[in-house]
Amino acid sequence: MSGMVSLIALFSIFLGVYGKDSSPSFKIDTVNSQFLLDGDPFQYLAGEIHYFRIPHQKWSDRLRRVAALGLNTITVPVPWNFHQFDQDETPQFSGDMDLVKFIKTAEANKLYTIIRIGPYISAEWDNGGLPWWLIRNTKINKYRSSDAAFMEEVTQWWTHLLPKLWPLMRRNGGPIIMVQIEHFYGALGICDQTYLANLAKMAKQHLGDDVVLFTVDPPVVRFMRCGVLENVLPTIEMVPSAVQGEVQSWFGLQKAFMTGAPAVASQFVINPFKLWGKRVNDTYDNSVIVATADIAWKLNASISFHMAHGGTNFGYWNGAVGAYPVTTSYDSFAPVSEAGDVNNLFLMIRNWVSKLPGQPFPPTIPISLPRTAYPDVTLTVFDTISGFILGTNPECWKTPETPRTAEYIRHGFGYVYYNTTVIDCGTLYIPQFADNAYIFLNHDFVGALYQNFASEHNNTIDVQGCLNQPNSLEIIIEITGRANDGYPVISRGIQSNVYMHNVTLENWVSCQVPIETFELSHLRNYENADAQKQVIDSFLAEKSDGADVVDQPSVFIGNLHIKSEPTDTFLDVRGWGKGVVTINQYNIGRYWSSVGPQQTLFVPSEFLHKGTNLIMFYEFEGATTACTPSSCTAKFSNAPIFDY
Ligand SMILES: *[C@@H]1O[C@H](CO)[C@@H](O)[C@H](O)[C@H]1NC(C)=O
Ligand SMILES: *[C@@H]1O[C@H](CO)[C@@H](O)[C@H](O)[C@H]1NC(C)=O
Ligand SMILES: *[C@@H]1O[C@H](CO)[C@@H](O)[C@H](O)[C@H]1NC(C)=O
Ligand SMILES: *[C@@H]1O[C@H](CO)[C@@H](O)[C@H](O)[C@H]1NC(C)=O
Ligand SMILES: *[C@@H]1O[C@H](CO)[C@@H](O)[C@H](O)[C@H]1NC(C)=O
Repeated sequence: MSGMVSLIALFSIFLGVYGKDSSPSFKIDTVNSQFLLDGDPFQYLAGEIHYFRIPHQKWSDRLRRVAALGLNTITVPVPWNFHQFDQDETPQFSGDMDLVKFIKTAEANKLYTIIRIGPYISAEWDNGGLPWWLIRNTKINKYRSSDAAFMEEVTQWWTHLLPKLWPLMRRNGGPIIMVQIEHFYGALGICDQTYLANLAKMAKQHLGDDVVLFTVDPPVVRFMRCGVLENVLPTIEMVPSAVQGEVQSWFGLQKAFMTGAPAVASQFVINPFKLWGKRVNDTYDNSVIVATADIAWKLNASISFHMAHGGTNFGYWNGAVGAYPVTTSYDSFAPVSEAGDVNNLFLMIRNWVSKLPGQPFPPTIPISLPRTAYPDVTLTVFDTISGFILGTNPECWKTPETPRTAEYIRHGFGYVYYNTTVIDCGTLYIPQFADNAYIFLNHDFVGALYQNFASEHNNTIDVQGCLNQPNSLEIIIEITGRANDGYPVISRGIQSNVYMHNVTLENWVSCQVPIETFELSHLRNYENADAQKQVIDSFLAEKSDGADVVDQPSVFIGNLHIKSEPTDTFLDVRGWGKGVVTINQYNIGRYWSSVGPQQTLFVPSEFLHKGTNLIMFYEFEGATTACTPSSCTAKFSNAPIFDY
């Protein structure tokens, strides 16, 4: 009898040692509620990092810092709109969009990858990653399985994306261990399980039946109910708590949705991000963050810090929460700062990880990259904003009544220009528009209607000073960044008739505004960049010298001379109003100094060169204290500045 027992025991040991399949794989062991990486128990310690918020030249630097934090994995969402700029464009995967290179660079730093393929990713990114052009076709407005046109677009996109991921899957020896579909789908309240099931099916077709798919939702029963799917790992969002019982209850809820699920907090939100014109709650105490991670880790949970490194919303890529756009900086108080610095939170997390039993000691912390506060640059007025726009010969559409939306004129980002003529002045009323409107009468700036302050203006503005002749009325609409906290999206630009003094205004011209600065950088790997550069160069050649700085929204230009190899820097925009800045045609992002909180824009060294660097401010409020009657000044700083 006892011989029998030991035989069985021996047999089990043999099975344990020799029956284990140690070829590359990633699996869920529901018997022991754990992950198996190549057959061995595995608990991941991940950090979220967004390749699309970092110039590709800096990917390696940022990933080394994330590795030095002590993590073994990164979480990476994929924004569809970043890769497929327009509907008839083939998705792009080079330069800043070279996702495969990013994942391989992480792998070289001993980091596995968890990938979030959406299609909706939230991520404080324009439209949560969904392309603006989806709503040009009015049938595509619900983003669900019942919408065949939408599903067809998703199918097309994933047919480009997923085959690129296939060779990188763990089962093929690559670093991708898990794949997230959608994001907080349950919390969005749509509850269309067929949609989720279709996504899961499609993902498996491309990535194999054995792929570990997962969903994430806040640990709230009604959200989880709508967000989970059979045979797909349910995971939760976690916030700093440091209360053992609370953390335990979150994982308890997670496991209630799947027997034998390993505990996973796929999004451990450690700190808030900033919004223009809105105070967000203070950051969490670093010790509470680390204590929460420790509680979760000791409950055998795998966790992903959100964010490990935030980065920058260059160009027009920021998302928005309700009416409040996300700032250009996405620093997010992350352990690795926007400029790559290591802070106290970093040191505390690293110190915690380095004491965890069984975890490798973190690699050495790279030294900070050099930064320079470059000398002041004097800028002169190039043209008024509307003069600049009309001077570019924009592509325009004419309509007798309702102006065209941004989507109709195929202009996804930045600004849309409208004009007409009016006989009488009075109250201008634009019932429906998104997001901000800048109004000009006979080329003089009247004022702005910001969505941040909608309840203060109710989409109306008093326009006075009409001359006894047809007066030019110009409206420039700024697309500020589409909300990322849910869908469907709304259209951009003017979407209704426009009234002056209760009279419907007619004969509209709707134009694309070619501050294609983001598009320039987006397209810089392609032939269009040259064509677009020529446009700017010809402007410069024609620039009339000695124009006075006008008290009007204007385009300002100046040169930054750099004598040695450039370093990273921050552009100090205090005293300016609101607009965007380009340096050497890289759109370094929006500023809104008059409202805050962000007062400096991060300029990576890669956007600069030795010699003369062209700086252009597209200033939409005008009348800034950064200007005297004859010139304006751009300052630099070697540290970020925030008001609140
Ligand atoms: C700010 O904190 C309060 C209290 O802790 C909380 O109720 C509220 O939701 C938080 N607001 C934001 C924007 O996080
Ligand atoms: C964590 O895993 C260990 C080793 O498998 C196990 O003994 C322990 O019970 C687990 N703890 C929890 C809370 O699941
Ligand atoms: C805007 O509308 C609200 C609600 O009708 C009203 O209370 C408010 O006074 C209006 N504001 C302006 C500036 O007209
Ligand atoms: C409106 O824009 C068109 C197209 O750029 C331009 O030709 C026209 O002069 C503008 N009209 C007014 C009234 O500003
Ligand atoms: C515009 O119309 C509204 C409602 O129809 C009316 O209350 C208002 O007095 C009118 N305003 C002008 C300036 O005619």
